[in-house]
Amino acid sequence: MNSDFKRTLVTAALPYANGPVHIGHLAGCYLPADIYVRYLRSAGKDVKFVCGSDEHGVPITIRARIEGTTPQAVVDKYHKLMGDAFKDFGISFDIYSRTSSKVHHQTASDFFKKLYDKKVFTEKTTEQYFDESAQLFLADRLIVGTCPRCANPNAYGDQCEKCGTSLSPDELIEPKSTLSGSKPVLKPTKNWFLPLDKLQPKIKAYLDQHSDWRPTVYGQCKSWLDSGDGLQPRAMTRDIDWGVPVPVEGAQGKVLYVWFDAPIGYISATKELLPDSWEDYWKSKESRLIHFIGKDNIVFHCIIFPAMLMEHGDFILPDNVPANEFLNLEGDKISTSRNWAVWLHEYLTDFKDKQDVLRYTLCANAPETRDNDFTWKDFQARNNSELVNIFGNFINRTLVLTHKFYEGKVPEATDYTKEDLIVLQELTAAPDRIAASIEQFRFREAVTEWMNVSRMGNKYLADNAPWNLIKTNAERVKTIMNVALQISCNLAILAEPFLPFTSKKLFGLLNLHEMKWSSAKNASNMATGHAINKDELLFSKVEDSDIQVQLDRLEKIKKENERLAALKEASTETPLKEIKEATSFDDFLKMDIRTATILEAESIPKTNKLLKLKLDTGVDQRTVVSGIALYYKPEEIIGKQVCLLANLAPRKIMGIESQGMILMAENSKGELCFVSPVNNGFQNGSLVK
Ligand code: 2FM
Ligand code: ZN
Repeated sequence: MNSDFKRTLVTAALPYANGPVHIGHLAGCYLPADIYVRYLRSAGKDVKFVCGSDEHGVPITIRARIEGTTPQAVVDKYHKLMGDAFKDFGISFDIYSRTSSKVHHQTASDFFKKLYDKKVFTEKTTEQYFDESAQLFLADRLIVGTCPRCANPNAYGDQCEKCGTSLSPDELIEPKSTLSGSKPVLKPTKNWFLPLDKLQPKIKAYLDQHSDWRPTVYGQCKSWLDSGDGLQPRAMTRDIDWGVPVPVEGAQGKVLYVWFDAPIGYISATKELLPDSWEDYWKSKESRLIHFIGKDNIVFHCIIFPAMLMEHGDFILPDNVPANEFLNLEGDKISTSRNWAVWLHEYLTDFKDKQDVLRYTLCANAPETRDNDFTWKDFQARNNSELVNIFGNFINRTLVLTHKFYEGKVPEATDYTKEDLIVLQELTAAPDRIAASIEQFRFREAVTEWMNVSRMGNKYLADNAPWNLIKTNAERVKTIMNVALQISCNLAILAEPFLPFTSKKLFGLLNLHEMKWSSAKNASNMATGHAINKDELLFSKVEDSDIQVQLDRLEKIKKENERLAALKEASTETPLKEIKEATSFDDFLKMDIRTATILEAESIPKTNKLLKLKLDTGVDQRTVVSGIALYYKPEEIIGKQVCLLANLAPRKIMGIESQGMILMAENSKGELCFVSPVNNGFQNGSLVK
């Protein structure tokens, strides 16, 4: 770390306020940023940590539509939920603000106006899709059509989720507005573009000064500059009605592009936090700006935002952007829409007070250099084999023996052996070693070094076995226990950035006030005679059954996702069919159709289409296999009354004898729906005639 800097401003990506926080968010940027900031604070540096909710952009308006509410209601709900989750996990922002704040609207608006007045933008009229019935220009996400690459009929205007191709709306075949279902028309509209093509040389020069950034980050920036025709102008305004209004003449109904306003949110949050001194962090060459983000945000923080800052002219540029790769969950990409995630608020209901276990696991397995996988087995192993068996065991033995041998008072170290001195030397060298890793944004390495100190302590006690030695050499045991207590104290200091809750608890057990990082460079923090508090366990085991609950939950979600995917695949527009050939009344009378109630329903292994039902027909109870599994979950239909063709000849389906068929109607998408009886409450067995 360049120590010429007087102060550091750390930012963590402003998350969209359209869903709860999951482990991917935490591992991606909030946890590493928090570790970094906590370390700097402990090292006595001047640092501020800002974040807030990103409350603009199209995804928020889409979420509002899904939830049948307004964008404002959506952001209010999630801003609170996200802020609480961060707090619960000890993410120690100095401020968690929001881009709907007045300060932010003003700051973003002024920023745009300054670039506009400096004639930075180019004005361009382009043709954009417009929904005539909704009277709106359509954001790319609000247009669907057929993918030109893979023929998926449900591709979005910016991307086909089936084949992964990035698209622009004009590439879609037969585009449709998702708002009204109508065919949108192209209409000219004026927008303001940041001429990244012209700015490319300046951006290149800036990036060239930062070839020491993480290779994944630097490499991605380089490939943006080097690919094809290099950087292209990008519109900084949008024709939607949710965002910061464009503050210039002739921009009625337009707002700032969300990626223009969001990073300015870092400036507004600092202003809100420090109304009188925010400029020290943004305008002084002695200040350093560090952005923690996930890899999908690299281009915005390393190219577009620096270009905006350069053109504005008043602000410093980002000094480092330690972006992480992605975290997967049990081998699959984390996804909010597929509910494939571990949500922080849900984690806490299952693992109360185990925030640090998650922090530790996510840090030890951080996706710093490549995508990584979170698995519940790894989580269990990190807890049981490392936190409980190594760190927890060492601390517990130390505290228990101190009470047992010395009534809880630190014994005097009388004579150090060569081995003691080696251990103490290792101990006092640890803070610099861990600091070096943190300063280079190598948090996995840092937390491993920290665990190595515990490992050393644990081995020291096991090798010296003071519980045996006390019988033959009580004097020697005093020194051993003194050394173990010094290690415990220093572990509490060094744990603070990674495991803040545990560090605090351990300081409490040691009956000490929290100490700064530099105190861990000596081995005399536990004064002889100092009384420690009663011992308590720092960690408890995670049982196989705890993990199984999580795995079962994921399995259920996976099944449900498979069902929804198959449903999407199977559903095609089904035009009304012609009336069939005439049949006789006598033939109709041969059919025994009667009301029945579904008593039980279960899925059948190895098929996602069939359900096994148990029906009460009034006359008997029988099994029917029905092809409705794509459309209904078993638990949804228990107790429902249906019409049953009761005298259909029995036949075996998937090895189960099906005794009849329930009657369903096909809707316009080809999905099977319950139709009758219209009212539940018939006596079972009533004939349908
Ligand atoms: O990816 C996201 O969640 C964005 N909302 C991040 C914005 S970061 C910054 F620019 F504010
Ligand atoms: Zn496609």
